[in-house]
Amino acid sequence: MSAAQVRNPPVRRLADWPAERLRGLADEYGTPLYVLDADRVRENYRRMADAFPEAEVYYAAKANTTRPVLRTLADEGAGVECASAGELTRVLDAGVPAERVHYTAVNPPARDLDVAARLADEHSGLTITAGAADTLDRLAERGYSGRVCLRVNPGVGAGHHEKVATGADAKFGVPYDRAVEVLDAAAEDFEVVGLHAHAGSGISGEDLSAHRELVSRMGDLAREVGERGLDIEFVDVGGGFGVPYRPDDDPLDLDAVAEATREALGEVEATLAVEPGRYLVADAGVVLTEVNTVKEVPKGVVVGVGAGMTTLARPAIYDAHHQIRSLASGAETRPEREVVVSGPVCESADTLGDHWLPDPERGDLLAIGNSGAYGYEMASQYNSRPRPASVVLEGGTASLARRRETIADVTAVEPEDEA
Ligand code: LLP
Repeated sequence: MSAAQVRNPPVRRLADWPAERLRGLADEYGTPLYVLDADRVRENYRRMADAFPEAEVYYAAKANTTRPVLRTLADEGAGVECASAGELTRVLDAGVPAERVHYTAVNPPARDLDVAARLADEHSGLTITAGAADTLDRLAERGYSGRVCLRVNPGVGAGHHEKVATGADAKFGVPYDRAVEVLDAAAEDFEVVGLHAHAGSGISGEDLSAHRELVSRMGDLAREVGERGLDIEFVDVGGGFGVPYRPDDDPLDLDAVAEATREALGEVEATLAVEPGRYLVADAGVVLTEVNTVKEVPKGVVVGVGAGMTTLARPAIYDAHHQIRSLASGAETRPEREVVVSGPVCESADTLGDHWLPDPERGDLLAIGNSGAYGYEMASQYNSRPRPASVVLEGGTASLARRRETIADVTAVEPEDEA
C-alpha cells in the first residue's frame, strides 16, 4: 500500500469502526441510529478528486442529504447534483454556491419546476439538466432562459441490480440519435452548457465495458456538437462508482476507472464531470440497531432487530447485501451461527438477509455497514413508524443531525378532529 493509501484507504470496512465509540453513541442517542462520519466523507471526496484532477466532481445528493455532509463537500469544493426541488432547496440552504449546483429534472412535477425556475432566478449560475424536450418547453413557459444541460439516453446501462440500470431505460434522457436536434432547438431559448448521461449504479472494476461505451458515445456527441458550433462547458458522464458491500469485495480501482474514462472520452473541448453519490458516503455510515428477538425455528435462527426496511430499504428492494457486525461486549468469544436478520415491519420483504453472527442474544447491539448511502434517504414511515435519528461525527465530536421522529411527527400533517 502506498503512503497515500495508508492515510486515506480506499475502503473503510465495518470491522474498522471503533466498537466502544459506537456503543457509546447507541447509549446516548438510542437505536436504531444512523451514524455518519463526515471526516470519512471528506477522505472519499479527496480520493475521487485526486483520481480525476481534470474533472469537476458533482456529489449526487440523493445518496445522503444530511446537512453536515453537504457542508463538508461544499467546503471541499465539490459541486452537487440534485434530483428534486427539495434537494435543490437543501443544497442551496447548506451554502453550496449555485454555480456548482446542477438540478437533474426527471419527469419533473410542475411544483419542482416552479421552485427550480424561482431558485435559478434568485441564484444565477444554477444549471438545469433536462431529459426530454417537454421539460425544456415547460422551463421556457416559466420564463426560464438560463443554463441548460441536456441529458442523453446513452442506450448503455449498468448497475448492481436491474432496478438501477438507468442508462438503458428509456425513461431517462433524450434518445441518443435525437440529441443533436433537441440541442439545436434548445440553443435558441437557453444557454446550453453541457451534456449528461448516467449508466446506472455500481460501476465495478471487473467490467468497465459499459462505462467505457457510455463515455465514448458522450465524447463522440460532444465532438459532433462542437463541430456544429455549439460551445459546451462540460460533458457529465454520471456517477455509479461502486463500493464493496461484502467484506471480501475489492475496493474500486479509481485510478483505473479514471484512466478508462479519459481514454474513452478522447479529445473534447469541454470539461469532464462525474457524479458520484454512494462512493462518497456509503462507507462513512453505519446503522446501529438492537436485537429484540432471538427465535429458534426448524430451519435455523431468526434474529429480530429494530431497524428494518423502513430504516434501510436496499435489502428489501434490491436484495442488496449489507454486512452486519455484533458490537456486544464479549461477542468475540461466542461461537458464530448463521442467522436470518429481520426487521419489525409486517412484510416478508422486511429482511436484512442471512448473516454469520456471534451467537446473538436479546439486547445485543449490531452495526449494519455501508449505510451512509441510500439509508436515511430511502427511509419511510411505513407502519406509522417514526424515522430514527442521525448523528454525525466531525473531528471526533458527535452531534445530532436529525432528531428521532416521534409518533406525533407522523400524525402532525393530519388536520385535527373537530371536537
Ligand atoms: N447521477 C444520476 C443522474 C443518478 O441518477 C444517480 C443515481 C447518481 C448520479 C449517483 O449514483 P451512485 O454514484 O450513488 O451510484 N437507491 C439505489 C441507487 C439509485 C440511484 C439512482 N441514481 C441504491 O440504493 O443502490
